[in-house]
Amino acid sequence: MDHKEGQYKVADLSLADAGRMRIEWAESRMPVLMKLREEYSKTQPFKGYKITGCLHVTKETAVLIETLKACGAEVAWSGCNPLSTNDSVSAALALGPNGDGDGVEIYAWYGQDTEDFYWCIDRTIDKTPDTTLDDGADLIFRVHSAFPEKTKDIIGGSEETTTGVHRLRAMAEDGKLGYPVYAVNDAETKWDFDNVYGTGQSTIDGILRASSVLIAGKNFVVAGYGHCGRGVAMRAKGMGANVIVTEVKATAALKATLDGMRVMPMEEAAKVGDIFVTATGMKDIIRGEHFLSMKEGAIVCNTGHYDVELNLQELAEVSTDARMIRDDNREYTMENGKKVYVLADGRLVNLAAAEGHPSEVMDMSFANQLQAHLALIRSHEAGEEMENTVLDLPEELDQEIAEIKLETMGLSIDKLTDEQVVYATDYSAGT
Ligand code: ADE
Repeated sequence: MDHKEGQYKVADLSLADAGRMRIEWAESRMPVLMKLREEYSKTQPFKGYKITGCLHVTKETAVLIETLKACGAEVAWSGCNPLSTNDSVSAALALGPNGDGDGVEIYAWYGQDTEDFYWCIDRTIDKTPDTTLDDGADLIFRVHSAFPEKTKDIIGGSEETTTGVHRLRAMAEDGKLGYPVYAVNDAETKWDFDNVYGTGQSTIDGILRASSVLIAGKNFVVAGYGHCGRGVAMRAKGMGANVIVTEVKATAALKATLDGMRVMPMEEAAKVGDIFVTATGMKDIIRGEHFLSMKEGAIVCNTGHYDVELNLQELAEVSTDARMIRDDNREYTMENGKKVYVLADGRLVNLAAAEGHPSEVMDMSFANQLQAHLALIRSHEAGEEMENTVLDLPEELDQEIAEIKLETMGLSIDKLTDEQVVYATDYSAGT
């Protein structure tokens, strides 16, 4: 471990050159964020502000972090999952773009335990942030529970993921949220792309890296048909799998059916599935009794934010043996003699076993993150009172981000004629 107090704690600084090349690769695929970096590095809107983040330390996150810094912010960061940090990227972030030590404050390494996880978050809170940036809301919860006196100094925050936004809304409804938080997840250019195409592709990527099995012809069970589950199901279907969806919500089950997926309860799906992916945000989706009824050789993983969807405690209780058969793939021998394979110990398989969502989608998600923090700082500087609640980003921003994305993809779209603009608001027009 390489540790410099008040500056970084990372696994191995000698990995920094490899990490820097990964970051450069991501930069070349994140044109929207890079355009915002170019624009705002001139005006330095974050000068004098401290931004603390708790989000997967990937090459894409590094592009966001270095953009915040280029726009004037002092940044302190920790990872939001013990298994998602890329150690080469955290080393490169610690040493900075020129490798001379002018990096950001970063506390993150792969494979940390729960105590270290909170130690890292606490080191970033030591900075007394002006704004916080979360994926899963662990940083916000930690500030509120362990350092409540600091909430009054925080202008606001942002939250990246569905699970985090749900929890923060519950907290706000209870009157317990100490500062306003932008729901970045709820921007159209985030959830309609990152959650669907990002999760879809990166989950398959994680499964393949950890197992290298053939997807075609397999019974592929997806638990949850929200945006993430739908993305995974679509990609598995496209690769020739027979997709089965399990749901608790009638409308979601209906959508899955009309999208051509088979729908059944987990009790039945468990008996026929070859590959299982949970994407629900709920705990105990696959339990001891489900594992016991699975076919020999079934592969089971989770792509939801927290590692609560597979009940691995119950699996351990019905197992007689367990061993790592390859990276990110644990073989359990159950008391009935059958073997099942759990990927990435039930943590999000796309980040633990692969590299997370591709840079191209994180480009838009992180453009929204940058805009959320600009909005917080602008409101603060304008002396506006912001309610301590969960806020949506303005809709126009989605169109702006999508326009830049299309432009960088070399695509153009039509524009309404003047007559069409009038027609759009003409309620007297009929047949
Ligand atoms: N969440 C999912 N994929 C990610 C990535 N590549 N970087 C950061 N957060 C992510």
